[in-house]
Amino acid sequence: MKKIVLLILLISGVSAYAQSKQDIEPREHLLMDFGWKFAFGHPYDTKKDFNNGTGYFSYLTKAGYGDGAAAKDFDDRSWRKLNLPHDWAVEQPFSEAASFSHGFKAIGRNFPHASIGWYRKTFTIPKSDEGKRISIAFDGVFRNSIVWVNGFYLGTEPSGYTGFEYNISDYLNYGGENVIAVRVDATMEEGWFYEGTGIYRHVWLNKTSPLHIATDGVFVTSNVKSITADVTVQTRVLNEFKISKAVDVVQTIVNAKGEVVASGVSKNISLNSYEEKNALHVLTVTNPLLWSVDSPYLYKLITTVVENGKAIDKQETNFGIRTIRFDAKQGFFLNGKQLKIKGTNNHQDHAGVGAAMPDALQEFRIKSLKEMGSNAYRCSHNPPTPELLDVCDRLGMLVIDENRLMGISNNDFNYMKRLMLRDRNHPSVISWSIGNEEWGIEGNELGAKIAATLQAFAKSIDSTRFITAAVSGGWRKGISNVIDVMGYNYIGQINTDEHHAAFPNQPGWGTEEGSTRATRGIYFDDNDKHFIAAYDKKPFPAFNSIEEGWKHYAARDYLAGMFIWTGFDYRGEPTPFGYPSIGSYFGMMDQCGFPKDNVYYLRSWWSDKTILHILPHWNHAGKEGQEIDVWVYSNCDEVELFLNKKSLGKKPMQRNGHLEWKLKYQPGTVEAIGFKNGKKVATDKIQTTNTATTIRLTSDKNSINADSEDIAMITVNALDKNNLAVPDADNEITFSIKGPGKIIGVGNGNPASLEADKYLETIKVVPVENLKEKIIENLAAASETAENYNDKDWQTAFKDDRTAAFGEKVKALVYRGTFSLPEIKANDTVTFFYNSLGREQSIFINGKAIATDISQSQKGNTFILDPAILHTGINSIAIAATPLLKKQSWETVNMNPGLFQIITPAEPCKRKLFSGLAQVIVQSTGEAGQIKLTATANGVKQGEIIIETKQATLRPAVAAN
Ligand code: GAL
Repeated sequence: MKKIVLLILLISGVSAYAQSKQDIEPREHLLMDFGWKFAFGHPYDTKKDFNNGTGYFSYLTKAGYGDGAAAKDFDDRSWRKLNLPHDWAVEQPFSEAASFSHGFKAIGRNFPHASIGWYRKTFTIPKSDEGKRISIAFDGVFRNSIVWVNGFYLGTEPSGYTGFEYNISDYLNYGGENVIAVRVDATMEEGWFYEGTGIYRHVWLNKTSPLHIATDGVFVTSNVKSITADVTVQTRVLNEFKISKAVDVVQTIVNAKGEVVASGVSKNISLNSYEEKNALHVLTVTNPLLWSVDSPYLYKLITTVVENGKAIDKQETNFGIRTIRFDAKQGFFLNGKQLKIKGTNNHQDHAGVGAAMPDALQEFRIKSLKEMGSNAYRCSHNPPTPELLDVCDRLGMLVIDENRLMGISNNDFNYMKRLMLRDRNHPSVISWSIGNEEWGIEGNELGAKIAATLQAFAKSIDSTRFITAAVSGGWRKGISNVIDVMGYNYIGQINTDEHHAAFPNQPGWGTEEGSTRATRGIYFDDNDKHFIAAYDKKPFPAFNSIEEGWKHYAARDYLAGMFIWTGFDYRGEPTPFGYPSIGSYFGMMDQCGFPKDNVYYLRSWWSDKTILHILPHWNHAGKEGQEIDVWVYSNCDEVELFLNKKSLGKKPMQRNGHLEWKLKYQPGTVEAIGFKNGKKVATDKIQTTNTATTIRLTSDKNSINADSEDIAMITVNALDKNNLAVPDADNEITFSIKGPGKIIGVGNGNPASLEADKYLETIKVVPVENLKEKIIENLAAASETAENYNDKDWQTAFKDDRTAAFGEKVKALVYRGTFSLPEIKANDTVTFFYNSLGREQSIFINGKAIATDISQSQKGNTFILDPAILHTGINSIAIAATPLLKKQSWETVNMNPGLFQIITPAEPCKRKLFSGLAQVIVQSTGEAGQIKLTATANGVKQGEIIIETKQATLRPAVAAN
């Protein structure tokens, strides 16, 4: 039914459509992250998978027949409560039997009990929404998710990275409760690096008019002229009414001050039912402020769909006006100026939280990269979360946006297309990558064909960006021959000069360089501890140090620049070690974002700040008299070094280089003075410290929003009696938190640490077993409910069908069963989630009445139990009830009395300092006030920090329920 019709455009000046106060704003984009329930299912044990898919008629046979945990009325009261984003992999222990590439978290094939996750959320849709188009959108679920709403199967999405959306309008209960259920299967991996598991990105509920701007339906491009820019806007409008409609589409561009700078309208677009049309506008912006990495100026396009003078849909799109160009001889140009790409590759996880990153953490990471002087980010090797691109737009970071798997089936095209449609308005995105190191094909004809096809397809969607692929071998035979912008993965594997000579018209850049290995704050290799000294060295003889790599790229104009493997350490790929190392060593920063020394090399040559940095630290007790390598990173012309105030002379600094001394170790100080044009411009000092006496906490922010989302990144370190930071402190620190905040993760950047990332309460769920029954005269005289009543000869419960005839015969029954409890500790909470077994009933646990004469309840009853009535081991439950009866022969009655849930509070959160540092991520719990984080350790003075949480405008969200 879809037909794309190019409309004759109508351009006007700033006038077209003034929005009046009466206009409704039917588009709502509601965050749906709060108030979910979670439990582990199972890949092949259907009972442990909550009997999903076991019904005689299930969700693939009949519409609305989602069964087990997919059913609307499934009892999820005993499940864990949580907010999204959520990554359950990071919550698991480490195991040697788990995946090397994924960082040994105990998930995947060998851990079926922790590889299927179920999520459910109950939400209300007001009656007034009737008639709207309502959809649910997931930014990314790892992986193979199946989604149901009110038992209606919506679809299966295999990708763990691509966003997806389902129209649920007709399935909803307007004016009442609705339930969404999601089954996530993380048994399989998509990448060879840590990927996270679960609903680890945001979920949204979108409400629009049935006639609306299609999902990802706006495409803004600009053509910069001498003093103006032509901004072309293509807008897909879709009519999901059952009748034809006619609308106007209005485009308004506002600048960062909110002033309208251009607008236009297409009038009277008629759309049949389910017809989609494309409205085209070209708007002129005079004296545009161009987006760049130093000045990331953003405009906002407001697209309004107007019917009979009323706005029926409105969407805002941030965009930038800028030009990009690759030149085979001179590299990359932004706004007509040559710009060397100083990039890093990165995966999507961080210490403490894994892949479930709050938006503010994306900002923290991009800021850290910018401070290093980096101007580009490659999303290796998968589509990123949209919030990452928002931050790159805002802060000025160029992006290679990468597809996951290379291929040319409809399926592959579809993934490439969805990525491009979603991300094409981000000014930060300068290139689409169609793949990485496709070893099976990159060096052969097959690869050349596949890459050429996917590239051509990608260009048909967006011809304004450049297509690249990261290639690791097979030069002159495969992908490298056909790709528009050649992506060199490692100059150790290819001679770029030779390649360039053979393909002089092909631009190129280093999509990966480095893969150097270093442990932050460690200066001697230690194979037993899995430590690699943090001097910039070749990872192995054929490859290059960061300095060698950068010198190569800096010296060649035809190379647009390079992307270091990697900006941050990530979980998985602990090359060259194996278990118990669980994280990579490649980062310029560790998993927390704490800089390794290489960061100072890059700051020296990538940023324009004056830099002077000495490595290592100067705490080497036991190595007195031994030679120690002392390196200096700086962009000064000359550096003079002093050991214990004695000058060791000045050395000139070579461009893109570093300086080295060998010093016989003696405690004290090593100082450096940096000179530019003969003038002293910088100093740095390393100094032998005493042992730690005090813990110090510092935060990236003193105040965060009270919105249940914002975070403070707290750095923990230890000071000696002279207030010097102790660089090799390894004290174990215990954290406690008060006020409207919670700790969502801890880390210390040690890739060989098996300490927990999170400290969570534990939930055990215990069923009622051996349920038996006995018919009794009436409810009142039920002596059979006593604790040790002998029920040996009773029959199995529900052996007799609950027909009307049964009801004639039987007035009441006593059901008896057992449940087995672990040891209940002082702070544990034991809750019984009861499901009615009768129309009227009394419930006894170990002979003590917990409820008498209660009526049947549709939603069940919840009892918090007094631990005094419970025992470790076998307990008894007795229920005296009138029988539940079937109305129809095919019905069933409830036969499950419910579940016991034991919640043990989380243990205090702990982390050791590693090379003197640890990190705590604190998140707002929603209320305004003061969060107090306290850090204690044996034998040292505790540290404290206060973070204010301030009232903030909350983004529109679906209530937690
Ligand atoms: C590359 C690969 C990266 C990472 C890196 C480690 O070959 O593209 O994903 O595995 O090696 O050195």
